[in-house]
Amino acid sequence: MISKDMQKALNEQVNKEFYSAYLYLAMSAYCSTAGLPGFAHWMRLQYEEENLHVTKMYDYILDQGGEVDLKMIEEPPKEFGTPLEIFEKTLEHEQFITKSIHNLMGLAVDERDYATQAFLQWYVTEQVEEEANVQDVLNPLRMVGNDKGGLMMIDQKLGGRAVSAAPAAE
Ligand code: FEO
Repeated sequence: MISKDMQKALNEQVNKEFYSAYLYLAMSAYCSTAGLPGFAHWMRLQYEEENLHVTKMYDYILDQGGEVDLKMIEEPPKEFGTPLEIFEKTLEHEQFITKSIHNLMGLAVDERDYATQAFLQWYVTEQVEEEANVQDVLNPLRMVGNDKGGLMMIDQKLGGRAVSAAPAAE
């Protein structure tokens, strides 16, 4: 069983995870249109990861006898600028999500809600990986700047991204 406050906070997080999925799908479309299939592929996988983050939390709310409350998902932007700008925005967004997960954990600690603390630990670990994955792309992007050859090489590399080994799911 979870408190009403926790139920509300988890539902708000579900909305943020949905928005993350939407944001990365919009970025993927933008990269496809810009002729960057590797970047588009990376973002498409990111979109799929976000959907997992949504459904895992959705299931937890129901497993705890709570009510799922799906709110409207904000519309993502359509323009994202250069590949470097896209990944700077991605890191900023992931840092925002990390803070949000930490706030949720803080609430679980305050409420002495041990089950939700154990559940949220997966997200705490996942966010470390999420930020590191973005940083792994940002570093080479910063090195190549606007060099087209360098960007094409990064695009090729990102095209080979496989579904990441996220922390053990259950
Ligand atoms: Fe669900 Fe990328 O945080």
